[in-house]
Amino acid sequence: MTTLKLRGIEACVFDAYGTLFDVNSAARSAQDSLGDKWQPLAELWRFKQLQYTWLRGLAGRHADFWQVTGDALDFALSTLKLDDSALRARLMNLYLSLSAYPEVPDTLKHLKAAGMKLAILSNGTPAMLAAAVTNAGITEVFDAIFSVEEVKVYKPHPSVYGLACERFNIAASAVCFLSSNGWDAYSAKAFGFYTLWCNRFGQAPERIPETPDAQITTLAELPNIVLG
Ligand code: LAC
Repeated sequence: MTTLKLRGIEACVFDAYGTLFDVNSAARSAQDSLGDKWQPLAELWRFKQLQYTWLRGLAGRHADFWQVTGDALDFALSTLKLDDSALRARLMNLYLSLSAYPEVPDTLKHLKAAGMKLAILSNGTPAMLAAAVTNAGITEVFDAIFSVEEVKVYKPHPSVYGLACERFNIAASAVCFLSSNGWDAYSAKAFGFYTLWCNRFGQAPERIPETPDAQITTLAELPNIVLG
């Protein structure tokens, strides 16, 4: 539990996948078809999905996150000898209704009631993010949902993080950014946000610029840090 207090925060900006929404919940929900392969499938799917965002960014060959998510799933299904078009369609559909982590709705409502501006800043497409927040019943709490589709390059490109400052017309130092993805939290800190790494899974520190301001284990710790 951190004792950090951040003053002057005007907006809390959240990563989506892994931070607000449980990316493993799609494969977990299809356990009846996947059996004990659900977990390796979930891990490989996520790993390739992120790798493809970075590869496409470096190569200057952007495709949206729905495409990349499907490509990564195809790789994972084929690696695990699970190729099956009905299963693929089911898993993609499940990706539109990922579970929110349990503390998410109440934490967001608490922050909103205290007057904090709230936004999502994600690799997801606007349609994917709209589906996820609708499914979780948290659409109303957000002032904005920023997608990398506005800049056509993925995190951690600084232009993605810059979207929040531009659209809210606030300095990076007035933003508290939250991500459970270590590389995303470090990169957002390097951009200039105050950053909290919601290290849900006790992952080792990253070795990239720059170390986040603090680690928390769930988002429930956030109101104490940014409110009065
Ligand atoms: C996102 C990925 C990084 O939501 O999880 O941007």
